[in-house]
Amino acid sequence: MQKIEWDKLGFEFTPTKSNLRFTYKDGKWDDGELYDTYDITVSVVANAFHYGQAIFEGLKAFTTCDGRVCIFRPEANAARINSSARHLLMPEFPEDKFVEAVKRVVADNIDYVPPYGTGGSLYIRPVMFGITPQIGVSPSKEYMMIFIVTPVGAYYKGGLTPVEACISVDFDRAAPHGTGHIKAAGNYAAGMLSTKIAKEQHHCPVALFLDPATHTMVDEFGTSNFLAITKDGKYVTPDSKSVLPSITNNSLMQVAEDLGITVERRPVMRAELKDLAEVAACGTAVVITPVSRIYDGDQVYEYGDKVGATMQKIYDTLTGIQKGVVPDTHNWLVEVK
Ligand code: PLP
Ligand code: COI
Repeated sequence: MQKIEWDKLGFEFTPTKSNLRFTYKDGKWDDGELYDTYDITVSVVANAFHYGQAIFEGLKAFTTCDGRVCIFRPEANAARINSSARHLLMPEFPEDKFVEAVKRVVADNIDYVPPYGTGGSLYIRPVMFGITPQIGVSPSKEYMMIFIVTPVGAYYKGGLTPVEACISVDFDRAAPHGTGHIKAAGNYAAGMLSTKIAKEQHHCPVALFLDPATHTMVDEFGTSNFLAITKDGKYVTPDSKSVLPSITNNSLMQVAEDLGITVERRPVMRAELKDLAEVAACGTAVVITPVSRIYDGDQVYEYGDKVGATMQKIYDTLTGIQKGVVPDTHNWLVEVK
């Protein structure tokens, strides 16, 4: 095993010992097999390349302060990949089998789970795609589901260092990721141009998508959900059909309620952005990444170059649960060892 500098990890791919592969054939999933290579042999006529029957998930395993390795809410990702599968006419993957598969692949790669205290985690990326060679537009008959793992650190700057964001109004396009609430590969490709423009023209690492029809409501960031704290201390997050139902956001809403913070899931207006006290992006990869300012054409909305007190509190609670230093009262952790 190569030496990994755990505290220097970003969100890049590091090869590990194995990945776990399942095949769907004749109407059923097989029992899966561990592979020590990342290469696959698949026909170029496979449906996934042409018509985009390709979906994925993202979740993490953590080393806790008492030396356990725990996966955060894998049942929620199992449910969401099946929701994506139903939307794209792909076969569902039994939810208990999904959780067992995650445990199996993490157990086999246990040496790659970053130690407690390094700030890292093992990112788990299950990916399902259609493999039947076909030229007509119709669902594939055969599929693969592969559970990949890789140790990661911060997606953006890390910890609670704020980043700048930029509103994407260059295209009349939805936050492509969530359309229909599905986490499909092609949706991400469709969002890359907006993020490239945010980076190159505005020097912002992240683009914020508005509702495509009116551009008056906030949807989500290219990588994550939008959340904010209002000046009167409420947690607000968009209720929109075109955002991904984030498991992190769902957990944070619960954490906020537990801390006595009022939670509002409702349309968040673009016109409100100037009045918000704290803004952040949230998701598995980005955890909670505070936003210092949002560029909106000629206007700039400022939220401060330091994390706000409420974001700090909910971040400490969520990451505390994941690391085993805050009681897991909602039974979100699934132990591997
Ligand atoms: N929104 C988008 C577009 C995402 O890619 C993600 C990450 O998966 C999220 C939101 C956050 O979802 P979760 O918290 O389940 O990772
Ligand atoms: C995740 O947070 O797991 C995602 O899939 C988002 C992606 C931008 C890495």
